Amino acid sequence: MKYLIAVLLLVSSLYSAKVVAIGEKYKTSDDCRACHNHIVKEWKNSWHSNSHYEKDEYFRASVDYVSRKTHKSLNSVKVECATCHNPRISVTSTDTDYEIAAVLGLDKNSKVNKAVHDDALDEGINCVVCHNIDTIHDDYNASLRGMDRVSWSKSGLMSGPFPDANSPYHKTEYREFMDKNPNQLCFVCHANDHTAEGQMFVNMQGEYKNSDEKCVTCHMGEKKDLYASTLRIDHGKPKARQIRDHGFSGAHIQSMWKDALKVSAKSEGNNLVITLKNDLPHNIPSGFGSREIIIDIEYKNFDGKVGSDSVSLTKQYLSKYKKPTIPHVAEKASADQSVPAKGEKIVRVKLNKKANNAVINVSYRLVNDEVRGILELKEPIWSEKMPIASVSVQF
Ligand code: HEC
Ligand code: HEC
Ligand code: HEC
Ligand code: HEC
Ligand code: HEC
Repeated sequence: MKYLIAVLLLVSSLYSAKVVAIGEKYKTSDDCRACHNHIVKEWKNSWHSNSHYEKDEYFRASVDYVSRKTHKSLNSVKVECATCHNPRISVTSTDTDYEIAAVLGLDKNSKVNKAVHDDALDEGINCVVCHNIDTIHDDYNASLRGMDRVSWSKSGLMSGPFPDANSPYHKTEYREFMDKNPNQLCFVCHANDHTAEGQMFVNMQGEYKNSDEKCVTCHMGEKKDLYASTLRIDHGKPKARQIRDHGFSGAHIQSMWKDALKVSAKSEGNNLVITLKNDLPHNIPSGFGSREIIIDIEYKNFDGKVGSDSVSLTKQYLSKYKKPTIPHVAEKASADQSVPAKGEKIVRVKLNKKANNAVINVSYRLVNDEVRGILELKEPIWSEKMPIASVSVQF
C-alpha cells in the first residue's frame, strides 16, 4: 500500500511535447539509404545512433538504476530520458494511471508499452530527429530541452542547408539552424541536462566561449566537395555539393583526444605544478557528468623509477542519503574539476624528493571508477584510458 501511495504521489512532466507521427516512408535511416547511403553509413558509426537502451550499455544501466532508485517503472524512465535520447517517441509523458498499471503488470497493451518498443526508436537520434525539425523555440524556458524545445514539421518534409534542394522522395526546406547557425540545433539537447530535482549537471551552452565557433566544424568535419544525394539529378550525375561528415566523433573516439589539452609542468619549491590548457570552446571534460581526466606521474632518478602518483579530475555525486550515486538521481555534487573552455587548470602535487625528473601522462576516461562500480559496467570502452598528452620535466 505504501508503495502504491508513493507511486500516486509521482508527478509526471507538466509539459508535454506535441507528437507528430512519422510516415512509414521516413521512419528509419534505411528509408534514406537509396539516395543518401554515404551519410547513413557515417551516422551509423556515431553515438547519436547508439543513444538508445539497446545499444549503449552505460545508458541502459543508468535508466535501470534511475528506475530502481526513484521507484518509477522502467518504461516511465525510458520516456523521460527519450526527451533528448529518443525525441521521436510517440508518447511523451506517463501518468499515475500508467504507473499503477505497470506495478500490477497490466500495461502490456498500453500506448506507453507500444511506444517504447517501436523498432524505429532503436535508432536513437536518427535522421528525422534533426531533419524534421520545423522550429527551435529559444524563447522557451531554458530547462525545456530535446523534444520539448522544438516543433516538428509535417512528416516527409526535410529541413536542410540548401535553399535550392529538390527531391522526388520528400519535400525540402531551408533552415538557418542547418546552415548559418547550427549551434542552435546542437544546444537543443547539449545543454541543461538536469536531475529529477532540477539540479543541472551539464550545461554546454552556458560554458561555451566564442559562439562564432561552430560545433559542426569539429564534430562533422570541414566541408568537403562531394554530393548530398547519389540520385542522378544533375544532367545524369549526382549534384555536386559541399557537405560534412555525419560521424559526430566525440569523447568515445580515441583520436579526438590526442592533444586535446596542452600540458606543461615545472617544479616549484616542494611542489610539482602541472598546467592543463584547453583551447576548445567547451570545457574538458564536458558533456556527461562522470567523465574523468587522469594525471599519472612517474618519478625517476638515475637509478630508474622511484615512485608514482595519480590525480583524478572528476565530479562525485551524492544521493539524499549521502551515498555515492549517478548524476541523474543526485542531490549534491562535488566542485567542478573540468578544465574551463579557452582556459586552464593548474594542479599542484607534492614533489617526490628522491626524484630528479618526472614523466606526466594525461588521459581521459568515459566513466570514473565510482560510477562504473555502481552501474557494474562490463564493456572495456568505459574504463579505457585514452591518451591526451605526455610531458617530461627535470628538476
Ligand atoms: C535530439 C538531441 C540532440 C541533438 C539535437 C544533438 N545531439 Fe549530440 N548527442 C545527444 C545525445 C543524447 C548524445 C549521447 C549519445 C550516447 O552516448 O548514448 C549525443 C552525443 C553527441 C556526441 C558524442 C559525444 C561523445 O561523448 O562521444 C557529439 C560529438 C555530439 N553529440 C555532437 C552534436 C552536434 C555537433 C550537434 C548539432 C549539430 C548535436 N550533437 C545535436 C543528443 C543530441
Ligand atoms: C544531430 C543532428 C543530425 C542528424 C541525426 C542527422 N543530420 Fe544530416 N545534417 C545535420 C546538419 C547540422 C547538417 C548541415 C551540415 C553542414 O553542411 O553544415 C546536415 C546535412 C545533411 C544533408 C545535406 C548534406 C550535408 O552534409 O550538408 C543531408 C542529405 C543529410 N544531412 C541527411 C541526413 C541523413 C540521411 C541522416 C540519417 C542517417 C542525417 N542527416 C542525420 C544534422 C544531422
Ligand atoms: C529517392 C531518393 C531519396 C531518398 C530515398 C531520400 N532522399 Fe533526401 N534528397 C534526395 C535528393 C535528390 C535531394 C537533393 C540533393 C541536392 O539538391 O543536392 C535530397 C536532399 C535531402 C536533404 C537536404 C535538404 C536541403 O534542403 O538542404 C535532406 C536533409 C534529406 N534529403 C534527408 C533525407 C532523409 C532523412 C531521408 C530518409 C528518410 C531521405 N532524404 C530520403 C533524394 C532522396
Ligand atoms: C574546436 C573544435 C571543437 C568545437 C568547435 C566543439 N568541439 Fe566538442 N569536442 C572537441 C574535441 C576535440 C572533443 C574531444 C575532447 C573533449 O571531450 O573535450 C570534444 C568533445 C565533445 C563532447 C564530449 C565531451 C565529454 O567529455 O563527454 C561533446 C558532447 C561535444 N564535444 C559537443 C560539442 C558541441 C555541442 C559543440 C558546439 C556547441 C562543440 N562540441 C564544439 C572539439 C570541438
Ligand atoms: C536535456 C537532454 C537530455 C536528457 C533529458 C537526458 N540526456 Fe542523457 N545525454 C544527453 C546528452 C547531450 C549526452 C551526451 C553528452 C556527452 O556525451 O558528453 C547524454 C549522455 C548520456 C549518457 C552517457 C552515454 C555514453 O555513451 O557515454 C548517459 C549514461 C545518459 N545520458 C543517461 C541519461 C538518462 C538515464 C536520462 C534520463 C533519466 C537522460 N540521460 C536524459 C542529453 C540528455
